Amino acid sequence: MKPAILLIGTNGQVGRELNRMLPRVGDVTALDRQLLELTKPEEIRRAIRTYRPALIVNAAAYTAVDKAESEEALARAINAEAPAVMAEEAGKIGASLIHFSTDYVFDGSKTTPYEEDDPTNPQNVYGKTKLEGERAIQASGTPCLIFRTAWVYATQGRNFLLTILRLATQREELRIVRDQIGAPTLSTEIAAATTDILAQIYCKERGSISLSDVSGIYHMTAGGETSWCDFAKAILEEAATAPVSLSWFAAATNNLPLAAGRVIPISTSEYPTPARRPAYSVLSNARLAGTFSVQLPEWRQQLHSIFAVHATGK
Ligand SMILES: NC(=O)c1ccc[n+]([C@@H]2O[C@H](COP(=O)([O-])OP(=O)(O)OC[C@H]3O[C@@H](n4cnc5c(N)ncnc54)[C@H](OP(=O)(O)O)[C@@H]3O)[C@@H](O)[C@H]2O)c1
Repeated sequence: MKPAILLIGTNGQVGRELNRMLPRVGDVTALDRQLLELTKPEEIRRAIRTYRPALIVNAAAYTAVDKAESEEALARAINAEAPAVMAEEAGKIGASLIHFSTDYVFDGSKTTPYEEDDPTNPQNVYGKTKLEGERAIQASGTPCLIFRTAWVYATQGRNFLLTILRLATQREELRIVRDQIGAPTLSTEIAAATTDILAQIYCKERGSISLSDVSGIYHMTAGGETSWCDFAKAILEEAATAPVSLSWFAAATNNLPLAAGRVIPISTSEYPTPARRPAYSVLSNARLAGTFSVQLPEWRQQLHSIFAVHATGK
């Protein structure tokens, strides 16, 4: 029998893709903010007690990194307190919890990819509250998979890709930070990898992987690394040859021609933001590959795929 899955945060970049893919694994009930407001713990408890899922997948989060600096209580309610309630309620009904976290739990002082067990030291409120969420879930003892991902983008939503494309229609030059290094990761790839892993757990004969045996934190990002500046350059390179009939691209650029010909590298100090960000937050995906034989494509290949979708007729 297929497991009942409660998907929370179905309108986000990752949630939307999970809603498309998870029916391969189980019977999905998807809740957006209108159906489940995460600042109200009693609503979370009621939803879990009503649907009694075998699996809760939480794709919701407070993700506005700069705004979080002035909205700490709200960020904590959504990123730490809500997942704690989910984990507690899941434990009571024997369900498991799938959750997502961030590269911003690290301070960026390393120069080689972070492993799951490296010391955390978040530099901003968003990272701090996400780390509190991870810890609350783990402390509950509920079987869980926590996937730390990074620099998430999609062809919908609010993200760096769509911001660059919009700005490129308005400015001839874009000044972009060169001294923050990470791995831009497409929401579709995160959802596909998550679905793959859950299929290994729930869709095979008994005796395959059991979630309790693999419970814990895993890094899940695109392969390779880049800076925001080189990511912007790659976006403009792809955009230069994007088919005009690519509907998400037409919406992102409002059907206007691209004016930007140059991306100028600047330093973080030249672009002050309310939240501090790690200079280096590349994550090692070795544990994910070793446990589940899952590896996300290189970041450049992921970017290319969204511009090539139309051309290949997908
Ligand atoms: N975005 C990134 O760059 C990034 C980087 C590293 C890790 N992550 C993690 O990856 C996961 C998925 O992120 P994402 O990029 O898909 O996030 P997203 O696009 O910002 O989506 C977050 C979702 O959470 C929902 N939400 C926020 N506050 C809520 C509330 N009070 N009640 C109910 N729902 C609420 C939002 O609802 P509305 O649609 O109604 O606003 C939205 O649908 C998160 O755990 C995030 O922390 C993201």
